[in-house]
Amino acid sequence: MTKSAEITIILGKRGSGKSTLAREILKRGGHKRVIVIDTLGEHGAGRTVVRSVPELFEAVKRKAFNVAVQFEDADVGFSWACRVAYAARDLLLVCEEVDFYIKSNYAPEPFSLLVRYGRHKGVAMTCISRRPPDLWRNLTANADSIFSFQTIEPRDIRYLAEFMGAQNAEGLKGLGKLEYIKYCNGEVSRGRTHF
Ligand SMILES: Nc1ncnc2c1ncn2[C@@H]1O[C@H](COP(=O)(O)OP(=O)(O)OP(=O)(O)O)[C@@H](O)[C@H]1O
Ligand SMILES: [Mg+2]
Repeated sequence: MTKSAEITIILGKRGSGKSTLAREILKRGGHKRVIVIDTLGEHGAGRTVVRSVPELFEAVKRKAFNVAVQFEDADVGFSWACRVAYAARDLLLVCEEVDFYIKSNYAPEPFSLLVRYGRHKGVAMTCISRRPPDLWRNLTANADSIFSFQTIEPRDIRYLAEFMGAQNAEGLKGLGKLEYIKYCNGEVSRGRTHF
């Protein structure tokens, strides 16, 4: 089974380091089965790029796979990637720009199922967004770790203060590029990702 099947959320403003950390997680995690919902088409190198449901089905048939989902209709790709991840079990699902697909009070059923029961299927999830307050609350409530890179948006800082405390959240403003504050099990730490 995929190690601990945890939910990780990565936040921060444009160009702050979110996708770089996602790449580091993908590299260091040593996962043999990976699906990346590649909303902006930036994770295709070294992966099987799929653009249709048959291609997606074919790609996950093997025991080990490393897939970038780049459908023309991103919503369709998102829903199918979530369904396939749930059925295939024991994998890491990375979702770039997750706020493109979910709202604070809504998530499509295949994603909702994964957040609620994916742990029992060995599905680890890493979800990336620029807009913390727009995330589906069930996702944040079930997250094991939240990494936030720099944000200067007051609404984001107020929101993240609920998790990491006001003082730490204020610290998000002064972070440099690739620096993050991590909130995990009530503990707050600082770190930096690398290219
Ligand atoms: N391999 C690399 N070498 C040098 N600079 C890089 C490399 N990859 C990314 N960068 C730069 O590092 C910064 C962080 O990039 P990254 O793609 O991680 O940001 P992001 O938070 O995902 O942004 P966005 O919200 O636009 O997706 C950006 O300024 C980017 O131009
Ligand atoms: Mg990015």
